[in-house]
Amino acid sequence: MKLVVFETKSEIAKLLSTIIIETVKKNPKLVLGLATGSSPMETYDLLVKDYQKNHTDWSQVTTFNLDEYVGLTPEHKKSYRYFMNEQLFNKINIEKENTHVPNGLGNVTANAQAYEKLLVEKGPINLQILGIGTNGHIAFNEPGTFGDTKTHVVSLTKTTIEANKRFFSSAKDVPIKAITMGIDTILQAQAIILIADGKNKAQAIYELVHGKITPDYPCTYLQAHDNVMIIVDVAAAALLKPPVIKPKN
Ligand code: GLP
Repeated sequence: MKLVVFETKSEIAKLLSTIIIETVKKNPKLVLGLATGSSPMETYDLLVKDYQKNHTDWSQVTTFNLDEYVGLTPEHKKSYRYFMNEQLFNKINIEKENTHVPNGLGNVTANAQAYEKLLVEKGPINLQILGIGTNGHIAFNEPGTFGDTKTHVVSLTKTTIEANKRFFSSAKDVPIKAITMGIDTILQAQAIILIADGKNKAQAIYELVHGKITPDYPCTYLQAHDNVMIIVDVAAAALLKPPVIKPKN
């Protein structure tokens, strides 16, 4: 695992967006795994700004998002499909049919299996971007999830519903289920970059770096992957054991 610690959240976005842009340039047919949540928003903003200024070509890139709420239509403002369209896809020259987000409507168990199949067909994911939940979840793989899981339907924990209610009018509007890539699905990616900021992520980051591999903290399964980079701010790194290497400006 490679660990990079910055003073500010903006520096995380700057480094991550630079890595993504360079990777797209090197491999125009990149298969890119994307995350939602507040953590990657600034990164997406920088990707859009780069597209406007430098016209980085996304026309052959394929994307796969990690997860989607069950029961929200793609047009629903809180759905992850809507989020991705608004934050990124509508603002760059990516082909919409090359952007994949799990379908949270209808027979979701069948949708999960179909998503996994599509990943096998179009994959592997060359680069997967991840955030992390305060309880150590990755995508929507909640505590208790084992390392051999494929794309599946999950019940969200109270902690996650509480953490995500800020995107909704109230906690009772947060869907109680979601469809998510499994841990094993995520581990199939060739390279993984996880970002986190803020002190409420510090415990999860501690477990990710120093904890033993356990379903109690699904993020710890990333220790089994040989190409993981973690980019965090000082607040999220606060519990890490020294030496924590900070990049020079
Ligand atoms: C959500 C998403 C995750 C995301 C995490 C952190 O529940 N399913 O993919 O990484 O929470 O979100 P945030 O970046 O808003 O803290």
